[in-house]
Amino acid sequence: MTQLETAIRGGTVVTAEGMIRADVGIAGGRVVALAESLPDAARVIEADGLWVMPGGVDSHCHIEEAQPGGGANEESFVTASRAAFAGGTTSVVCFIPQWKGGGLLERLADVEARAAHAMLDHAFHQIITDPTDAVLERELPQVVAKGIRSLKAFLTYDSMHLDDGQFLKVLVAAKRHGCLVTVHCENYAAINWRIEALLAAGMTAPKYHAWARPPVVEREATHRAIALAEVVDQPIQIFHVSCVEAADEIARAQARGVKVWGETCPQYFTLTAGDMDRPGFEGAKFMCSPAPREAEEHARVWEMIRRGVLDIVSSDHCAFSFEGTAGKRQNGDASFAVIPNGIPGLTARLPLVFSEGVAKGRISPEHFVRLTATNPAKLMGLWPRKGGIHIGADADIALWDPTRRTRLTNALMQHAIDYTPYEGIEVTGWPLRLLRRGEVVMADGEVSAEPGSGRYLPRAPYPMVAPRGVVPFGFDAANA
Ligand code: URP
Ligand code: ZN
Ligand code: ZN
Repeated sequence: MTQLETAIRGGTVVTAEGMIRADVGIAGGRVVALAESLPDAARVIEADGLWVMPGGVDSHCHIEEAQPGGGANEESFVTASRAAFAGGTTSVVCFIPQWKGGGLLERLADVEARAAHAMLDHAFHQIITDPTDAVLERELPQVVAKGIRSLKAFLTYDSMHLDDGQFLKVLVAAKRHGCLVTVHCENYAAINWRIEALLAAGMTAPKYHAWARPPVVEREATHRAIALAEVVDQPIQIFHVSCVEAADEIARAQARGVKVWGETCPQYFTLTAGDMDRPGFEGAKFMCSPAPREAEEHARVWEMIRRGVLDIVSSDHCAFSFEGTAGKRQNGDASFAVIPNGIPGLTARLPLVFSEGVAKGRISPEHFVRLTATNPAKLMGLWPRKGGIHIGADADIALWDPTRRTRLTNALMQHAIDYTPYEGIEVTGWPLRLLRRGEVVMADGEVSAEPGSGRYLPRAPYPMVAPRGVVPFGFDAANA
């Protein structure tokens, strides 16, 4: 047997397929042995009573994203790495922006330079906001050649929104290049129309964010995104599904055999529209899009998770401090329409899914691993290197105490942000140690990785996102 550098002894290994009592042997940063009992290694980590699970893969994080007006998201690759490790996550997929009127390549170089400081392993989605022929024909092939295999389309937001014709162009380009398309589904015109009416009526407080974008605008855009993807025969993932109305659209399409996957986030089973109605300006701390819904929606979201319609839980970490020049309150107590959208959640994701899911008996431990590590790794083309504990996988391993109770505080998040929307929530289950490629990067909350030690994860073509070969009337307009 290969000389072991590390042995994790005495724990219960939890993977997508099952739970077994096994020791894990690590050499060269990878898992090289799984056995009832392993010989001594240079370093032994005792895991009696702990669950040995794959490090989390968070496939939807906005980290140090540059903004068109200058500056970037407050959460840098270094602070995000710390936050992720504190919560048991070892890999992320984050975003390369495109600004309307701009190209892809100059932004790619900027993101690469920023991400070079990460401790987390990372891959990128390419956002497309301006799908000109030059962008899709000249620049996109070079982006794909760098191992970027997912494109992100927004159907709302003034600075990001694609109309149907533009969205079709993105779907066609993705099909030609073997990429997944991920989509933010909300109806742009309906939201802007409601915002104008709300502001005209003097309804400006943070709680009106939810009134501006009710479930019907999410359902409509989800339906439309799926229909257009079906016309092109291009696999898509619907990001941050907040409500059963949108999830129903996904379920119906999945039943027809369409390759569509649904992601949800912890905010959609822990926060509510009522949180945006907290006294003063506090409600701004809970503003993200889609908006958190009524409390009754939480059980419906869990049912869609249980059924597998929603098969990934990401954080959609998109963090703005409350105070500060780039924060939620940068315009004073101004109208909801100018408060930046997004909340931090990188650290809290795994504890919240574990606590609300496994500890409350809604899902099995194996289902937890599928939702938070294995499924995102597979859908993003990172499997089998990431997302599992098997021979040859990167030794990204979290040692969990499944019974430990923790009250969430902002200090525990270890992010660059001055608040957490999950303040005060008590969770059961907590990661005590974390290994990234065999190196202990977090022990009892102490993060010890070197900036720059994270690796970029280029992605090769992968069959999961291949088209089905089913197009209307057998006519493949994308390849005509
Ligand atoms: O409010 C959110 N979710 N902000 C992040 C950007 C996005 O829409 O994913
Ligand atoms: Zn979005
Ligand atoms: Zn997002």
